[in-house]
Amino acid sequence: MAKHETPFLDQLESGPWPSFVSDLKQQAEVRAKNEEGVEFQIPQDCVDDLLGVLELSYKHGRTHWKHGGIVGVFGYGGGVIGRYCDQPELFPGVEHFHTMRVNQPAGKYYTTDYLRKLTKLWDFRGSGVTNMHGATGDIILLGTTTPQLEEVFWTLTHDYGQDLGGSGSNLRTPADCLGQSRCEYACYDTNAMVHFLTNEYQDELHRPAFPYKFKFKLDGCPNCCVASIARSDMSFIGTWKDNIRIDQDAVNKYVENDAAYPANAGAFKGSKDWGPFDLEKEVLSLCPTKCMMFKDKKLFIDDANCTRCMHCINVMPRALKIGKETGCSILCGAKAPILDGAQMGSLLVPFIEVNPDNDYEAITEVIENIWDWWMEEGKNRERLGELIMRQGFQKLLEVTGIDAVPQHVQYPRTNPYIFWKEDEVEGGWERDVEEYRKHHLR
Ligand code: HEM
Ligand code: HEM
Ligand code: SF4
Ligand code: SF4
Repeated sequence: MAKHETPFLDQLESGPWPSFVSDLKQQAEVRAKNEEGVEFQIPQDCVDDLLGVLELSYKHGRTHWKHGGIVGVFGYGGGVIGRYCDQPELFPGVEHFHTMRVNQPAGKYYTTDYLRKLTKLWDFRGSGVTNMHGATGDIILLGTTTPQLEEVFWTLTHDYGQDLGGSGSNLRTPADCLGQSRCEYACYDTNAMVHFLTNEYQDELHRPAFPYKFKFKLDGCPNCCVASIARSDMSFIGTWKDNIRIDQDAVNKYVENDAAYPANAGAFKGSKDWGPFDLEKEVLSLCPTKCMMFKDKKLFIDDANCTRCMHCINVMPRALKIGKETGCSILCGAKAPILDGAQMGSLLVPFIEVNPDNDYEAITEVIENIWDWWMEEGKNRERLGELIMRQGFQKLLEVTGIDAVPQHVQYPRTNPYIFWKEDEVEGGWERDVEEYRKHHLR
């Protein structure tokens, strides 16, 4: 029997999708029965109260969570997100109900043994409710009391070899696609780089010193499975310099509709009958730069004009492969629509070497130059993307020492104002403002 009546929440369960309400009800019941005999360290009925307070929010049309509050673990400025309920008398089980962000492993690889240990700990010291994973990438442990925070942290760090993730005005937990561990499209080892960046920037992750949050996300190729281009202040997207590798025999197998060569590796086969594969319609005419041609049973790609969109490779993976000279592109300034609307990342470095042997020095140099600028010039709660908008992309190039290249130009000829600096023009110039003004007396 449920502790609180929840007619509004019950309504939410009627939709076609899996419902978090059903999940919470299930968890409330598991805790009530407690068949495993867990010695709960927070109220046994906290999940019932969570449902109760949410129901009340729907009834009142406003939240009953107080915003934030400073809670955390010793020595860290992030990783715990304070949540206090403003109705502690009605719902004592969620009087404090803090969230812990736990740094997910690169590529989100776990052993079942580890997952069992983690959920066991969270049943014991928290609500048992998790979010695997939050949009941040972290393992989200939802709901515990203040005294449990240090206890959970101790077990995570001492027994599980695991750390908290980022929150607040910190570097957030770096996140990546599974990359070369599973995917043939990966242009660099995203897991290795995420692991490196996480270790290298521990201070930035745990001790807030930034104007606002800062996110790294890493995609092994432009398919962008973690959507780094839309969701991170600095996005690292795998790419290649040389040519797409073409297996002409395999291209012809696709053209001949050979059953062993299904388009898109057969990915959409079940959804409907797409008819026979049509190279012209499904690949050539969809190439965004129209840089492909098929003639006399041969496929040509004008690689200088290819934007590495991945489309042709995704459709004919047995015939086309990414190039061999691989690295990544760096894009900056994406963010969600808090101020000024949503923004995608802007391309800063079209190609950069990804070299674990020298600790990714080319990449960390770009990162640190950007941080120096943003920490100096960024206003409180100003994301990198907003600083770029306020001071200009030209300023970003200046602080990173990166030369302007055609790839930086999104729309040519929209801005007639180009201001050269003396050192940018051969021979420079000398100008005396006082002298000039003599001729322009009012
Ligand atoms: C109907 C109720 C709720 C809705 C619709 C809602 C919606 C959302 C959405 C859309 C996000 C961003 C997605 C994500 O980061 O995974 C989010 C994140 C989050 N929510 Fe909620 N939320 C609800 C209730 C709660 C409650 C009750 C708590 C805590 C008591 C909570 C704590 C959080 C936290 C800590 C995050 C950040 C997770 C992360 O790090 O990624 N939310 N919520
Ligand atoms: C190579 C020389 C010049 C360049 C590159 C130049 C460029 C421009 C540009 C880009 C605008 C803004 C257009 C707009 O956004 O509406 C403008 C406006 C204007 N320019 Fe020039 N200009 C030049 C010479 C001159 C000269 C010699 C005069 C006057 C003798 C002049 C008078 C004006 C005026 C009055 C406007 C404002 C027009 C308006 O607001 O409707 N310009 N100019
Ligand atoms: S982003 Fe590219 S490399 Fe990473 S998993 Fe997706 S397709 Fe593979
Ligand atoms: S990767 Fe994209 S841009 Fe390049 S050839 Fe293929 S379809 Fe065209």
